[in-house]
Amino acid sequence: MTVLRPATRARPAVRAVVLLASVASCAPALVHPGPEDLRRAALLWPGVTLESLEQGRALYVQSCAGCHHLHLPEELPAEEWPKVIDRMVAANHVDLRPDALEAISRYLIAISARAGRAASPPAAAVGGEGHR
Ligand code: HEC
Repeated sequence: MTVLRPATRARPAVRAVVLLASVASCAPALVHPGPEDLRRAALLWPGVTLESLEQGRALYVQSCAGCHHLHLPEELPAEEWPKVIDRMVAANHVDLRPDALEAISRYLIAISARAGRAASPPAAAVGGEGHR
């Protein structure tokens, strides 16, 4: 029993370090898509699902953090994101299937639009959007 003690004691500390490391490596507040994002996104891409937006976020974290910090979606106007992704592809920074690129793009556009930076869906069509 007592033999196990040192390891048991060390574990919370190790966990804390791992937790801190993972927090530090994440971009601050890379938000998850919600129902309002889905509603806005569906105006642009009928049939889009919350799961696919969430998948876009996951792919973004996986594929786009290798060389620089993860730029927050709201850093750029929605319409800039596809251009940036095209540039990353053209520069051979990323090698992803078109559907993966599309998913990333949709996530970034949907969240960027949350910050009111999108020109794309007319505000009247969005309707009832709360301020957040
Ligand atoms: C292999 C390295 C690499 C990967 C992977 C990469 N980038 Fe970049 N990215 C760069 C470099 C280098 C720059 C700065 C020079 C430039 O803008 O081309 C940059 C700049 C940016 C910028 C800054 C804004 C701007 O217009 O320059 C954004 C936003 C960006 N990348 C988004 C992405 C996204 C989205 C992905 C994933 C699809 C991605 N990056 C993956 C290398 C990378």
